[in-house]
Amino acid sequence: MIKVVIIGSGNVAHHLVNAFAKSEAVDVVQVFSRNRETVSAEFNSVKISSDLDNLVEADLFIIAVSDDSVAEIASVISINDRFVVHTSGALTMDCLNTASRRGAFYPLQTFSKQRAVDFNNIPICLECENETDLELLKVVANAISDKVFIINSKQRKALHLSAVFVNNFVNHLYHIGNEICIENQLSFELLKPLIAETANKVMLLSPEEAQTGPAKRGDYQSIQAHLDIITDENQKKIYQILTQSIQNNGKEL
Ligand SMILES: NC(=O)c1ccc[n+]([C@@H]2O[C@H](COP(=O)([O-])OP(=O)(O)OC[C@H]3O[C@@H](n4cnc5c(N)ncnc54)[C@H](OP(=O)(O)O)[C@@H]3O)[C@@H](O)[C@H]2O)c1
Repeated sequence: MIKVVIIGSGNVAHHLVNAFAKSEAVDVVQVFSRNRETVSAEFNSVKISSDLDNLVEADLFIIAVSDDSVAEIASVISINDRFVVHTSGALTMDCLNTASRRGAFYPLQTFSKQRAVDFNNIPICLECENETDLELLKVVANAISDKVFIINSKQRKALHLSAVFVNNFVNHLYHIGNEICIENQLSFELLKPLIAETANKVMLLSPEEAQTGPAKRGDYQSIQAHLDIITDENQKKIYQILTQSIQNNGKEL
């Protein structure tokens, strides 16, 4: 079996440990956590270490800590020709110590400990300094997912940017919708079938084809009526920018 050490005990580490536990090809031989109190119960069967200088040897070291700490951790653990990867969408491979064999293992999904995920359907985007290590990384990724892709650091950054638009920003718009509902004594439940249909529709149509609404139709009366009732200046700016962007088809305003 391929021996893997996971550094970190946050959302991604938690789901990786769970996914590898079900695989026949990968054995998580150790998890590093600087704070044992944050370690999930699922990690009980794995050896936990709080000492970066005393990690067991393994075929692969996966750093799944906050982006700001990846380089610092890599500089400590990148010894003995270890193969080290990180799980970040935003970081290039260069942030890992150049002396080590390095790469990226980026699972493109939103992870929270409290929410179970099916790793089989999660795209894992790989990058590696050398071909031999890439082959090993492919075996590790294929052990938990059917969707494995090879992309470079520039593409990964662009994918991460795109993911921020379709996930984080869309979720923030749900938040604004919820605020407006609360202000008007409406239940956010009313919007859930619409949210589900919008997400399902874009599985079959392109985002451009799926676009509807006052901005797309050029319905200026409705747009003005909405602007008249928005009380929050920030929401007004967001409404205007998105309306213009839809009308310009996502091009420069
Ligand atoms: N969450 C996602 O949806 C997602 C998706 C794809 C990729 N990623 C990437 O995966 C990585 C981990 O993200 P996450 O969401 O799992 O983060 P997270 O839940 O915030 O967990 C971060 C982990 O890093 C540890 N950590 C932070 N700084 C450290 C340091 N200086 N020394 C030792 N440990 C340190 C934290 O320890 P403590 O618990 O002690 O603070 C915690 O275990 C990031 O690179 C992120 O960009 C995240």
